[in-house]
Amino acid sequence: MEDKEKEKEKENKKGEENQNPILVETAGRVGLIRLNRPRQMNALNDALMDALGLALQAFDEDDGIGAIVVTGNDKAFAAGADIAAMRGWDYMDVFKSNYITRNWETLRSVRKPVIAAVAGYALGGGCELAMACDILIAADNAVFGLPELKLAVMPGAGGTQRLPRAISKAKAMDMCMTARNMGAAEAERSGLVSRVVAAERLMDEAMAVAQTIAGFSLPSMMAVKEAVNRAWESSLSEGILFERRQLHALFATADLKEGMNAFLERREPVFRHR
Ligand code: CAA
Repeated sequence: MEDKEKEKEKENKKGEENQNPILVETAGRVGLIRLNRPRQMNALNDALMDALGLALQAFDEDDGIGAIVVTGNDKAFAAGADIAAMRGWDYMDVFKSNYITRNWETLRSVRKPVIAAVAGYALGGGCELAMACDILIAADNAVFGLPELKLAVMPGAGGTQRLPRAISKAKAMDMCMTARNMGAAEAERSGLVSRVVAAERLMDEAMAVAQTIAGFSLPSMMAVKEAVNRAWESSLSEGILFERRQLHALFATADLKEGMNAFLERREPVFRHR
């Protein structure tokens, strides 16, 4: 390795030791997680994915939180898995350590709604992370892509599975095989993102959506999330049966009674999330 390159790597490492790979805050019943490796375009290394997993689990267990927002910065949501970290690994390293599954997949077990607020680059693992969230809100400068083939690697955090489900097989093949990027307008047209807003309004919009979600009854919200996810993972009749049983179960909650009584009494409901 060139001396200059070594020096740069050392400098980056030094900077990182003093820096949390994520920043966490709350606003009312919303938990906000910001990916925080700006110098590396939020490249997703183990330290970041471990911290993200722990933060997601903590919010999921916190009764005071009803929705979670994951975001990056103006330039990058995340430019993918950390290439500098990966380049030294061989097959045994990734197989034995269960790369991706061991920490990235914590997100799949989160039962509360998770919103990705994406500005700038969401490439490779960054695009996959955004797709693994429940709602995807994009700034008008957002750029999505699965460019892994440029590195002779392939999407490995669910990209080959979630992209065709989101935007059709032909378009997913196009994205994966040509490694091209997709802008926010095309992403919205294709159904990859829920909504597109002006970059300067991204966080206001994402937080407002999260506050709306967090204001509803949490058990009812969790039932909705589970039921919509069944639409991805089961047949129509299994999914409909699951939905019906979830509906029946909600009649056991105090919030359902409160919601219906409040409507008939012409007042705002007071949900206790039980
Ligand atoms: N991993 C590690 N470092 C990364 C990175 C990544 N995925 N993406 C960007 N960086 C680093 C760059 O190396 C650079 O670091 P230095 O300043 O130390 O050189 C810094 O972030 C800024 O990047 P650029 O100078 O390249 O910025 P740019 O504005 O010219 O380009 C970009 C931005 C288009 C996002 C470009 O950085 C890029 O193409 N990044 C790689 C995208 C990619 O290939 N992602 C897929 C990764 S593989 C994967 O994700 C596998 C999987 O499915 C799990």
